[in-house]
Amino acid sequence: MDNLKEIFVEKCQIPAEYHLNPFPFHQTNYLINGELRKWEGEYNEVLSPIYVKEGENYTRTIGSYPLMGEKEALEALDAAVAAYNHGNGEWPSMTVEQRIGCIRNFVMMMQEQRDIIVNLLMWEIGKSRADSEKEFDRTVDYINDTIEALKQLDRTSSRFTISQHIIAQIRRAPLGVVLCMGPFNYPLNETFTTLIPALIMGNCVIFKPPKLGVLLHAPLLKAFQSAFPKGVVNTIYGEGEKVITPIMQSGKVDVFAFIGTSRVADILKKQHPQPHRLKSVLGLDAKNPGIVLKDADLQNAVNECVLGALSFNGQRCTAIKIIFVHEDIAETFAAMMVEAVEKLKIGLPWTKGVNLTPLPEENKAEFLHDLIDDAVSKGAKLMNPNGGQSHLSLFFPAILFNVKKGMKLWDKEQFGPVIPIATYTSIEEPLNYVVESNYGQQAAIFGKDPKELARLIDVLVNQVCRVNVNSQCQRGPDDFPFTGRKDSAEATLSVSDALRVFSIRTLVSTKENDTNKEIVRQILKEDLSNFLNTDFIL
Ligand code: G3H
Repeated sequence: MDNLKEIFVEKCQIPAEYHLNPFPFHQTNYLINGELRKWEGEYNEVLSPIYVKEGENYTRTIGSYPLMGEKEALEALDAAVAAYNHGNGEWPSMTVEQRIGCIRNFVMMMQEQRDIIVNLLMWEIGKSRADSEKEFDRTVDYINDTIEALKQLDRTSSRFTISQHIIAQIRRAPLGVVLCMGPFNYPLNETFTTLIPALIMGNCVIFKPPKLGVLLHAPLLKAFQSAFPKGVVNTIYGEGEKVITPIMQSGKVDVFAFIGTSRVADILKKQHPQPHRLKSVLGLDAKNPGIVLKDADLQNAVNECVLGALSFNGQRCTAIKIIFVHEDIAETFAAMMVEAVEKLKIGLPWTKGVNLTPLPEENKAEFLHDLIDDAVSKGAKLMNPNGGQSHLSLFFPAILFNVKKGMKLWDKEQFGPVIPIATYTSIEEPLNYVVESNYGQQAAIFGKDPKELARLIDVLVNQVCRVNVNSQCQRGPDDFPFTGRKDSAEATLSVSDALRVFSIRTLVSTKENDTNKEIVRQILKEDLSNFLNTDFIL
C-alpha cells in the first residue's frame, strides 16, 4: 500500500483533463415550470472527498448549489401538479410514441454531457474513473432499454380482449406526481432508474438529487428544459426537512420513489396525510451475507467476496456485508482474503488501476473505526496489516475475523470498506442469521455440492430476493428484477418492472353488441382516442 499521506497532491500534479471546468462549479440555476430560474438565496458549499494540497494545507471546495426553502419546493410541486392537470395535461395526454420521442431527444442531449458528468462523479463522490464511466453508460443503456420495453408493452396493449361477451382494451396509465430521490453512491444511475420510467409512463416529476452528487445533474438542466413540456420535470435542492416535508405534507405526491435508508423513508412516508394514496418505490438498507461452504472453490469465493465487499469501497446497497465461513476452512479463507485485499490499490479516482478511492461521507473514517474498535474489544481479530489505516477521506479496508452476535458489525450496515468474517459449524447458524435479520435483499453462497446448494437455495429464496451462486451480489443486469424483503425494499425495479411500478392498469370495456361494436369501430377508424387505439409502434 502506498503511503496514504502521499495520495492527495497539488492541483498542478492532477492531469489537466480531470480538472473541473468551470472551477469552482457554481450551480446558480434550478428548473421549475420549464423555467431555468436564477437562484438569489443562500448556497450550499460542495466539498469534495478529494483533498487538494496547497502548501501545508488542503482545499476541498469545488462549488456550490442553491439551498432552497419551502416556498420554492412548493412552487416545484405546484408546477408538477399543474403539468399533470389531473391526467389531462399535455404530457400525460401524449401518445406513447410522442413521449418516447421526447425521451430520445433528452438522451441525445445527455450524451453530449458525458465528460463533465463523469468528471463530476469523480470529484463529488470519489468514484473511480472506470466506474464513473460505467455509471454514465449504464444509465444511457437503461434509458434506451426502457424505450424498447415500453414499445413492447404498448404493442401488447394495442390488442383488444374479448371475454364473457365483453370487449376490452387494457393499457397502463400514469399515476400523477412523482417525487424522485436517489442515493449518493449511484447519484445518476439510481435516480434515473426511477425518474425515466416515471416520466415515460406520463407522470410529472419533482426530483431532488442526493446530498452528495448534486452538481453532476446541473449539466442536464437545459436538456430537461428543452426535451419536456413545462412543469414535467422540476428540480429542488436543499435540506430534506425544508424542501421534502412540505411537499409530502401537501398530500399531492402520488408516488414516492426513494433510494436511501429505511429510517428516512419511514419518516417521509408518514408525513403524507393520506398514506393509502401514496405508492412507494423504495430501495433501502441491506446486509447481504456471503456463505462459504466447506467444499467451496476458495479462490473463486475470495475473488467474488473481495469484489462484492469492496467495489466502490463497499458503498453499494448490494455489497456483501458479512461473510460466514465454515470453521474448517475459515482460517485459510481469511488468509487468502488478506492476501487479496492487501494487493488492492488505493488512490485518486483517475489513478490507473485504482480499486479504492476517497470516501465522500463526512466523518466516515470515524464511523468505520468505531465499528472496528467495537468488534476488536469484543474478541474479533483485525487480520490485515494495513486494515483500517486512514488519512482524511482515505480508508484502507479492514478484515475482521471471528465477528459474533453482540458486535455492531454483526447487524449494522457498514456501507464502507470493512469486511466482517464470522465462522460457523452448522449451516443453521448463517441461515438463522438471515431469518433474524431486518434485511432481506440478497445472499451469495459458495460451494460445489448440488444437493447442499439446492437445499440452501430453497431456504434462502423465501428470505431474500436474489440468491447468487458462486458469485457476488449485484443489481444487474438491469432487466433482472431488483427488490428486497423486510427493511430492504418496497416494489420491484427492472427495466420492465419499473414501467409497471410507475403506472396503473386501466381498461375500457363494453358489452359485445352491434351498437357498441360500431362505436368502437368508428373510434378506431377515425383515430379519435389515444387510449382506445390499435396503433402499433414499430
Ligand atoms: O447501491 C445499490 C445498487 O443498486 C447496486 O447496484 O449491484 O449494480 O452495484 P450494483
